[in-house]
Amino acid sequence: MASKGRLLWGLARAKVEFPLVFFYCTVFFLAGFYGSLLFSLGFSGGRVPRGRLLEVDKEASDLPGMPYGETGESRPSSVTFQVLSWKPRAVYFPKFATEEECQNIIKVARSSLEPSTLALREGETGENTKGIRTSSGTFISASEDSTGILDQVERKISRVTMIPRENMESFNVLRYEIGQRYASHYDAFNPAEYGPQQSHRVATFLLYLTDVEEGGETIFPYENGLNMDIGYDYEKCIGLKVKPRQGDGLLFYSMFTNHTIDPLSLHGSCPVIKGVKWVAAKWIRDQMQGNST
Ligand SMILES: *[C@@H]1O[C@H](CO)[C@@H](O)[C@H](O)[C@H]1NC(C)=O
Repeated sequence: MASKGRLLWGLARAKVEFPLVFFYCTVFFLAGFYGSLLFSLGFSGGRVPRGRLLEVDKEASDLPGMPYGETGESRPSSVTFQVLSWKPRAVYFPKFATEEECQNIIKVARSSLEPSTLALREGETGENTKGIRTSSGTFISASEDSTGILDQVERKISRVTMIPRENMESFNVLRYEIGQRYASHYDAFNPAEYGPQQSHRVATFLLYLTDVEEGGETIFPYENGLNMDIGYDYEKCIGLKVKPRQGDGLLFYSMFTNHTIDPLSLHGSCPVIKGVKWVAAKWIRDQMQGNST
């Protein structure tokens, strides 16, 4: 009896304090819920195993969405990335495209390959710049690819950079065979050397379409200010090296946010030693590209 009495007494007291208890419970529940949500958000990038990266869009749909605007997306998605360097700004996207997408891009480009050309400075000719860029390549716009794959890839590049597709040049699909390379250079054209420019290449996205057994790395010889004072030979393969892997993407900026050329964005493609390197380059400009893309 006594215990029942205490129980009743306890209940009565609980009743009095119920609103307060309810309040605390709610606070702790919400804290736990959102806390764990933040936790999973923060670490999901590193946890996704490489083989499953293609499905990240699906996984991310577990995350609660936000009301979105007319041009927005209905749900969150995640894209895995790794910052390779801030000097220059270079970020890497493992498994940006699928194996099948890469193979199809090669198939579309293969028949129209021609020797790659260079933008020439004053005094430079095709003859005296021979050997600087020895790949073959072709420009293909997303709309020219009837498979729709380049359209998909371009859309994704636009999403991760948040730069409109109108600012992008056509894809330059390139093939480097054994011994072929691109000596170190800048993608942004310095008006002092190349004359007035209508617009600037501010960033470059490279999509590697094949694995390369040996060689063919994208290099940043001046990464973090290194090698700038050694009279660097533009043909040497030194500095930060990015090994091509099929489907992986690399984005780097050639210009600072204040719109001057980043001297550390100097980059090149090492000679292929074994295998063949296919890559799709996408130059991103500060001005819209009209209908040429
Ligand atoms: C532009 O920004 C870079 C990097 O922050 C800086 O080193 C450079 O001096 C700036 N140039 C001008 C002209 O403001």
